[in-house]
Amino acid sequence: MLRILQINASLHSEQGQSSRLANAFVSSLREQGQTLVMKRDLALDPVPHLDAARFGAFVAKAEARTPAQQAVVTFSDDLINELRAADVLVIGLPLYNFGVPSQLKSWFDHIARAGETFRYTEKGPVGLLEGKKAYVFAARGGLHAGTPRDSQTGFVQTFLNFIGIRDVQFIYAEGLAISEASRNESLAAAQAAIRTHVQDVAAVLETTARAWIAPAVAEAAAA
Ligand SMILES: Cc1cc2nc3c(=O)[nH]c(=O)nc-3n(C[C@H](O)[C@H](O)[C@H](O)COP(=O)(O)O)c2cc1C
Repeated sequence: MLRILQINASLHSEQGQSSRLANAFVSSLREQGQTLVMKRDLALDPVPHLDAARFGAFVAKAEARTPAQQAVVTFSDDLINELRAADVLVIGLPLYNFGVPSQLKSWFDHIARAGETFRYTEKGPVGLLEGKKAYVFAARGGLHAGTPRDSQTGFVQTFLNFIGIRDVQFIYAEGLAISEASRNESLAAAQAAIRTHVQDVAAVLETTARAWIAPAVAEAAAA
C-alpha cells in the first residue's frame, strides 16, 4: 500500500488550480494500486499561526507542560505523525504575493520540531523524515520558475530537505493569469507532467526496490 499525505493550500480550497492538479495526481495514483490517502485542506481546516505561546509549548519540558501547552504539542504531534506515516507527500502550492500561502507556512511551522522532524548535531541540523518523496503542484498567475522572482521553489525545497525529505519534484502551472491560451497550455503541460510522474510511481510500485517506498510497503508488495 502506498500511503499519501496531501496538503492543499489554496484559499479557494477545491476550486484552486493547485488543488485541482494535486487532486488529479492523487486520483491517478489511486488507480495504480492500493493507496491510503490522508488529505488536509488548509483553507477549510487552518493551522494557527505560530506565536510565542505556541512555540513556548514546543520547547517546554514534557513534564512541565500546562494543559494548554500539551494541547498545542498534541496538535503538532498529530500533524507530524500524518507526515511520518506517509510514503509520498503531495502539496498544492499557490503563489500568493510572491510567497507561500500563510496557511502552508503555519503548517510548516508546526511540523518543524527539534527532536521530532530534525535534530541538531555537531555538523549541523539533520532531517529525521527520511525515505519519502514529495510532489509539489505550483500554480502561478505569472511566469517565475527559474528566475530570481521565484522565492517559493527554493524555500519549499530547503524546508523539505531540512526535515529529511530530499526527493522533491515541482510541477508548475504558470502564466494562469496571462491569457486563456497561456492558461490552457500551462494546465495541459502540468497534466502531461502528472501522467509522467504517475507512470514513474507505478514503475516503482512494480519493482518495489526504491528506497523511498517504506520497507513495510516493499515487503508487502513482494509477498
Ligand atoms: C492573493 C493573491 C495573490 C497572488 N499573488 C501572485 C503573485 O505574487 N504572483 C503571481 O504570479 N500570481 C499571483 N497570484 C495568482 C495566483 O498565483 C494564481 O491565481 C494561482 O492559480 C493560485 O493558485 P490557486 O488557484 O491554487 O489558489 C495571486 C493570487 C491571489 C489570490
